[in-house]
Formats: sequence, structure tokens, C-alpha cells
Amino acid sequence: MTHRVRTCLAAVLAVVCLSTSSLAWGPQGHRLVGMVASTYLTGTARQNVSWLLGTQTLADVATWADEYLEGNNQTGPWHYVNIPPFAKAYNRDRDCPRQPGVSAGGRGDQWRDCVVDRIQYNQERLADPSLDRADRAVALKFLVHFVGDLHQPFHALGVERGGNGIEVVAFGTADCSPGGMTSRPCNLHSVWDSTMIARRKLGDLQYLTVLQQLIRHKRLDREPVDSPAAWALESHALAKKGLVPEYGEIDEAYYAEHIRVVDRRLALGGLRLAALLNRSLTTPPPKE
Ligand code: ADE
Ligand code: ZN
Ligand code: ZN
Repeated sequence: MTHRVRTCLAAVLAVVCLSTSSLAWGPQGHRLVGMVASTYLTGTARQNVSWLLGTQTLADVATWADEYLEGNNQTGPWHYVNIPPFAKAYNRDRDCPRQPGVSAGGRGDQWRDCVVDRIQYNQERLADPSLDRADRAVALKFLVHFVGDLHQPFHALGVERGGNGIEVVAFGTADCSPGGMTSRPCNLHSVWDSTMIARRKLGDLQYLTVLQQLIRHKRLDREPVDSPAAWALESHALAKKGLVPEYGEIDEAYYAEHIRVVDRRLALGGLRLAALLNRSLTTPPPKE
């Protein structure tokens, strides 16, 4: 193979591989949640994060859980919770499936397979000083990602797999394949994961500044921190407001109405992640 052919093949593979995930805010959304959280950590929490992650930041590890999915399919349901559209509350028995092959209340049924349970599970592991440092670092990486995911409204709505099954026309195009290589229909879920965020055309630092202004102007740091079940219900309500029919149009009017919601959820995700880490990491890490 010539060098040019090889370079070209590598580029094609990169695009194909990067286009397969539909389980998360896009990378920028996740990084922003990590960046916001980093600015609200207590000194002790910050020391613990450095001890666990070394030179990496919360933003650096924010998309690790999506990469881990490859070859670890059983972690797929940890990224969302499908609350039925008519529901008025989160109901764990209805909305959070038991692990495969485990009977209700039996051994092995302590933790279930949805994002609400997996946030609590990883929070307990992060806070557990009897666990190995490496295991607590993994728990931290999952947490950064899952708190972000749960603030993406469609990660909590059980309609067409969180909107993944609702094809849409986004800003005049029905084909949302990255780079326009293979054809890939636009869907409502990915509009919320990434298309609206990308349309803002802001770099991470510029976007972080926007979110920090929003936090100040709207006093978001005084909003209740609450529990993952409450965040899920907020997301569920916001996603219902963002529903469109199959082959619906995502146009400038839709964007103008919902981009404020995207920004607010990114900011709240970061604030609540910080609060959760500050509560879990209250003793200084061991001296090296
Ligand atoms: N797959 C199935 N339901 C989903 C949801 N609500 N969000 C993301 N991926 C899903
Ligand atoms: Zn995810
Ligand atoms: Zn997603």
C-alpha cells in the first residue's frame, strides 16, 4: 500500500468508528460537564481527583465510559434510564432493569442496570477507602460520564430508545453521517447529544465561559442538588417537550427554543457532579 492509500484508509476507519456511538452527550458536552465540575471542587476533593487520575483532568476522562462500551456491551444500559412517557415519578422496579439472569431481591440484585443505580453504585465505590486506588479511579471515570448522560434529557425518556429511533431532518439534511461518508440518518437523540452543541460553534473554553455566565446570571449554584432520580425526572420532562414526530424538522426555531435547555443541563450537570464528588471525597488522599 502506498502511504497515501494507508493514510486515507486510516481516515475512513476513524470516521466509521467514531460514528457508531449513540449513547452519550457528544464528546464536547461531556468535556464541558467535567470542566464545570472542576471549578467547583473543594480543596480535598481536588486533591483526591489528582491522586486518582494523575495528570488527567475530569474533562479528559469524561468520554472514557463510551470508549469502554466497545467490547463491554453489558455496560450499555448503564448510560440511560427509560422512564415511560406517561410516568409522574421514577419507579425503580419499573424503570431500572435487573441484571440479566438475576431474580428480584435475590443475591446479585443489589445494583440494577440503569444510569440512576449506576451513579449511586459508583459513588459508593469512589467513597470507599478500602477499595484499591485503581478501582476508585474507574468509579470516578464512570461518574463523570454518567452524571453528564443523565442530564441529557433524552437519556431518561423511554420513547423510541430515547429518540434514537426517531429519524429527523436536522437543519435541512436527513443525512447526519460525520464527514458524509456512509449515509446515516439524523435522529432526535443525536440532535441533543451533539448537533445542537456543534451548531453553537464554540471551543471548549469559550463554551465554558458561557456556562459560567449562565450559572451566575441564573444563580444555578443555588438550585437544589437533589438525587439522580430527581435529575432523571427533570430530564424526562424536558425530553417530552423536545419530542417531534418521525421525519420532523429540526429547524432554527427548534434550536432557538431548546439550546437554552442544553446549556442549562450542561451547567447543572457540572454543578451536581462537583457536589457529588465533594460529598464523596472528604478525607485527604494518602501521602505518596
Ligand atoms: N438506548 C435505549 N434507550 C436509550 C436512551 N434513553 N438513551 C440512550 N440510549 C438508549
Ligand atoms: Zn454515555
Ligand atoms: Zn446520548
